[in-house]
Amino acid sequence: MKTKVFLASLLSMTLLQAADTNTTQISPKQEGITYIKMLGEALKTELQAHMKKDPSGLDALAFCTGSAERITDEINAKLPAYAKVRRTSLQTRNDKNAPDAMDTQVMKAYEADIKAKTFLPTEIRVVEEGNATRVYKALVTEAACLKCHGEHISPEIQDALKSSYPHDKATHFKAGSLRGVIVAEIQKH
Ligand code: HEC
Repeated sequence: MKTKVFLASLLSMTLLQAADTNTTQISPKQEGITYIKMLGEALKTELQAHMKKDPSGLDALAFCTGSAERITDEINAKLPAYAKVRRTSLQTRNDKNAPDAMDTQVMKAYEADIKAKTFLPTEIRVVEEGNATRVYKALVTEAACLKCHGEHISPEIQDALKSSYPHDKATHFKAGSLRGVIVAEIQKH
């Protein structure tokens, strides 16, 4: 319910911004950022609440395993038909989140910037590709991610991961490294 109110307020904020500047057209970049925030914040708010409830991470893991895909689908169902938002990574846990060639290219560029220390976590990348604009936001590995994506994962979490994700590649991340991206795709319309 809270999530719904939050999403509604984000959308109305965007509409108000458009009214303020007296334009009817929101740029694909702005639109993409709105959808990225919708997905990112919905997942993060839930993840944090579950981690607080059960610091072992098992409860949060059950949430991610059972609900990350559903929440992504629910948010996409609220977006206009020409828009889509999803998460991906160079090392995925869920095969359904596998990157395509463009995703891989953008994530490799992010990694190169992190290595060269020219990376800005707030930077949004916009890529035009034929009929669509893609808007990318990097997700950097934080301390809070390491319980399920780091080098020292508890045996309980390892067991649960093994049974739900037999092809899991999303471990051994270090804090500060690129965990993945959220990408919004806005088709020309
Ligand atoms: C409690 C365990 C847990 C924690 C903590 C956690 N994740 Fe995950 N993460 C998962 C699971 C499980 C999935 C697979 C979800 C699915 O089935 O789509 C996942 C998937 C992802 C994906 C989608 C790509 C993929 O690998 O399939 C990204 C990106 C991601 N996590 C980033 C993060 C970031 C960033 C943090 C820290 C802010 C974090 N995760 C913290 C368990 C966790």
